[in-house]
Amino acid sequence: MSSNVQTIHSHSIDAKTAEAFATSWNNLPEGSVYTFEQVKDWFSPIAKEDIEEKTVLELGCGNGSLLTHLPKWRPQFVEGVDLGESIVSCNKNMHQTGFQSFKITQADMIDFESDGFDLVYSIGVLHHLQKPFAGFRSVLKNTKPGGKFHCWVYAREGNKVIIYLVDPIRKIASKLPWWVTKYMVAMPLVIPFYFYAKIVSRSKAFAKLPLYEYSRWISTREFSFFRHVAFDQLVTPQTAYISKETVEKWLSESDEIDEASTYLIFRNGNSWKFGGMKKENL
Ligand SMILES: C[S@@+](CC[C@H](N)C(=O)[O-])C[C@H]1O[C@@H](n2cnc3c(N)ncnc32)[C@H](O)[C@@H]1O
Repeated sequence: MSSNVQTIHSHSIDAKTAEAFATSWNNLPEGSVYTFEQVKDWFSPIAKEDIEEKTVLELGCGNGSLLTHLPKWRPQFVEGVDLGESIVSCNKNMHQTGFQSFKITQADMIDFESDGFDLVYSIGVLHHLQKPFAGFRSVLKNTKPGGKFHCWVYAREGNKVIIYLVDPIRKIASKLPWWVTKYMVAMPLVIPFYFYAKIVSRSKAFAKLPLYEYSRWISTREFSFFRHVAFDQLVTPQTAYISKETVEKWLSESDEIDEASTYLIFRNGNSWKFGGMKKENL
């Protein structure tokens, strides 16, 4: 493994989740699974000016599907942290970008400590942690005073179908060998959703149907992306659906946040994007 990679060994409960994700990430073709358009949408309101010439940290970086797009915005330095073996594919994918000012670290994001970054983000991770609030606290801990933080989590709101239909299947599927989950559970489950999303996204007449907004977002992608998302949902032993009230509480209970800078955005009808700025003088 090259010197861009630092590994730390952990025996936490989240390690099981990270191990499950690594089977997902390390069995994908090389490169990012996301388009640049998708990444910009995930980051917004974080934009180019928050990354250009800035130091950026991703907590829970997976195979670097978000991280590998950052060099387009010319950051000064980027670091990706993940508890799982997906750091192997992350490191490969980062090398392929040609960008050299990066470091990939295998660590539990909750324990991870740094001198502070201009921007810290954690996308699709907090809802998989045993202690989501502790994960959020680490996002803040690693943001330098005056720096920005940005998170994205599954919402409790708008996810009834997933919570009552898919989540019970996940609890069983996450215990199966990864290839059974991918090809014998995720694949047959996602085929009807693929056609559903393609149909409902065509007309506003379907706006009241479940997962309408999400269908509009995902329907622009090919079948293999749907399968990846379904596998990602089913492979993990730990998932929480986080309410607006909970996110508001996290934001209001953290004194180091500049209150006027915070935002909380309902995304695709079934998830929350939130963030803000850490106070300059602490
Ligand atoms: C759904 S993936 C998201 C990856 C990436 N952020 C993205 O959006 O493509 C969640 C990632 O969080 C990692 N993870 C889970 N628990 C963690 C922990 N305690 N510390 C660091 N990473 C963790 C998993 O290994 C996995 O790669």
